[in-house]
Amino acid sequence: MKILVTGGAGYIGTHAMVELLNQGYEVIAVDNFVNSKHEAIKRVKEITGRDFLFYEMDVRNKKQLDNIFQEHDIDCVIHFAGLKAVGESVQKPLEYYANNINSTLILCEMMRKHDVSKIIFSSSATVYSANNKMPLTEKSHTGECTNPYGWTKFVCEQALTDMVNANDSMSVALLRYFNPIGAHESGRIGEDPQDIPNNIMPLITQTAIGIFPYLNIYGDDYDTPDGTCIRDYIHVVDLVEGHIAAIKYLEESKGVSTFNLGTGKGVSVLELVSAFEDATGVKINKKIAPRRPGDIAVCYAATNKAKDKLGWEAKKTLKQACEDTWRWQKENPRGYE
Ligand code: UD1
Repeated sequence: MKILVTGGAGYIGTHAMVELLNQGYEVIAVDNFVNSKHEAIKRVKEITGRDFLFYEMDVRNKKQLDNIFQEHDIDCVIHFAGLKAVGESVQKPLEYYANNINSTLILCEMMRKHDVSKIIFSSSATVYSANNKMPLTEKSHTGECTNPYGWTKFVCEQALTDMVNANDSMSVALLRYFNPIGAHESGRIGEDPQDIPNNIMPLITQTAIGIFPYLNIYGDDYDTPDGTCIRDYIHVVDLVEGHIAAIKYLEESKGVSTFNLGTGKGVSVLELVSAFEDATGVKINKKIAPRRPGDIAVCYAATNKAKDKLGWEAKKTLKQACEDTWRWQKENPRGYE
């Protein structure tokens, strides 16, 4: 089975490629390296011992994309490519809308032209509104996003749904990621933020390695047991296994299917830091800082739908995620550079 992976050099993309190749899928990857490095592609080949076709290109380049669909009999697309920094999306909304939405639309247009009917879309728990009850089910209220990044995911979900409504031979899986952390156990691929990270896990490991003097804890006065925010941290390898389960699901189903990819367990910021310290033996300097605007107190997934329909659930522990992230950080202190 031939899979086109967009954003193949990114954090989730590289881990997905490794699992796909290891499970015998044929993979064609594209990436424009706007937020990733060539080295990541080399490492995927090194880990798997398998070669694959790679195109350096922007998914919005219709002509190049058309050629790829023309040359290869693609069975399914996994669309990871996109801009993903929440703060930056507030500063550069037009770039975010232009990139994330147009890439998805052009991809779908080419799929239609070349009769490719299956697509898996990287969505985010950020599409859920802030006022939902926990845990979030796939039927929880969406919209009222707090930033342009979130809106781009919301709009793409809607566009894909409307596409299926107009063409019932299409099948789409919308996968809503909770908080991906961790790295491949080899220590060869992992999250490689190009600038100051936004997400907590790379901030923890970069503090551990001495790049930052301390970790800010954004608020300890939330209405949670220890006062810090609660999130659902999922190991990236579990997350990509969820995609492989979705490929199999799409072979037997038509229409749009939405799944949460999370662990179902809420972990507070302080619990995450302690888990990291216990797993690695490295102490993290921390300072309590004011709340970060836009943060909600608690966010975790209901996982029964993914379990029932995909036969998938997260298996790796928080300890493993901490050990794997630390191995990646220690062995690649400056990422892929
Ligand atoms: C963020 C994004 C979300 C995106 C998700 C995964 C926002 C508002 N949301 O979610 O759209 O899908 O990442 O990439 O940015 N924290 C600290 N200190 C830090 C950094 C973070 O205490 O230095 C806390 C945050 O307040 C939060 C938790 O750690 O409670 C997790 O933060 P983060 O990794 O940024 O993820 P989310 O905010 O859940």
